[in-house]
Amino acid sequence: MILKGKKGIILGLANAHSIAYACANSATEMGAEILVSYLDERFLKWVKPLCEKLNAKYFPLDVSKDESIDSFFNNVSKIWDKVDFIVHAIAFAKSEDLEGRFVDTSRAGFSLALDISSYSLVAVSKRVASLMKDGGSIITLSYYGAEKVVSSYNVMGVAKASLEASVRYLASDLGNQNIRVNAISAGPINTLSARGISGFTKILHHFQSKAPLKRNVLASEIGNTAAFLASDLSSGITGETIYVDCGFNIMGA
Ligand SMILES: NC(=O)c1ccc[n+]([C@@H]2O[C@H](COP(=O)([O-])OP(=O)(O)OC[C@H]3O[C@@H](n4cnc5c(N)ncnc54)[C@H](O)[C@@H]3O)[C@@H](O)[C@H]2O)c1
Repeated sequence: MILKGKKGIILGLANAHSIAYACANSATEMGAEILVSYLDERFLKWVKPLCEKLNAKYFPLDVSKDESIDSFFNNVSKIWDKVDFIVHAIAFAKSEDLEGRFVDTSRAGFSLALDISSYSLVAVSKRVASLMKDGGSIITLSYYGAEKVVSSYNVMGVAKASLEASVRYLASDLGNQNIRVNAISAGPINTLSARGISGFTKILHHFQSKAPLKRNVLASEIGNTAAFLASDLSSGITGETIYVDCGFNIMGA
């Protein structure tokens, strides 16, 4: 029960396959009280039963709109006087930017992907920091495509590189409030977003055959690492990108 007595927000629940759901599950199992965000009413038919199962409150949040971010944190501050951790599990790019050549990315597609998948961490961190009265932990989700070229990942790789750099700058800014900021670089997992990447099944097979553990990572393993990063067990870790990928990233030729 490493999160007993802690209150945490999990952003980005779409359905039972979401990494956000695995994080919500682990956090609840470890004793935390949680509150969840979902994009809009289209997701409610999946989100509502999952949140009821976890005994979690849930509110809409569209990170592309400042008013929506403000309204979400207003809702949070009405029910909680402080927050201990937040998991940011949100990303988006147009489907046409997740296939073919990166060089063909449009200005609009580039801005959209970077805005929703990277800037949103900055916007959310600013709001949540004022609620982290006893310090806290901010966790986001990245991917190997931030540092090496992964076929079709394209603009999302650039967004994840920006996200990982943002983690370091945020960690530096917020450290004096005892707020830690870290990213988990997760191996590929079959989720709604991942299925939008052209050739995703091939990526899954490639990771499985090359990773030292000879398998793909489980969403529950990401959830458990997020729980560790949210807990006081990780009190000395900030500004890091931690790989939870069955070791794939260490392999060379
Ligand atoms: N699945 C993978 O293989 C994998 C690997 C590494 C990292 N990640 C990252 O994990 C995170 C969670 O993705 P997932 O794989 O669980 O997929 P998912 O589709 O379940 O979750 C993505 C979430 O982002 C939300 N979202 C999109 N646009 C939004 C907006 N404007 N405002 C608020 N929310 C918005 C979606 O509604 C959804 O809930 C993402 O950052 C993703 O890049 C995923």
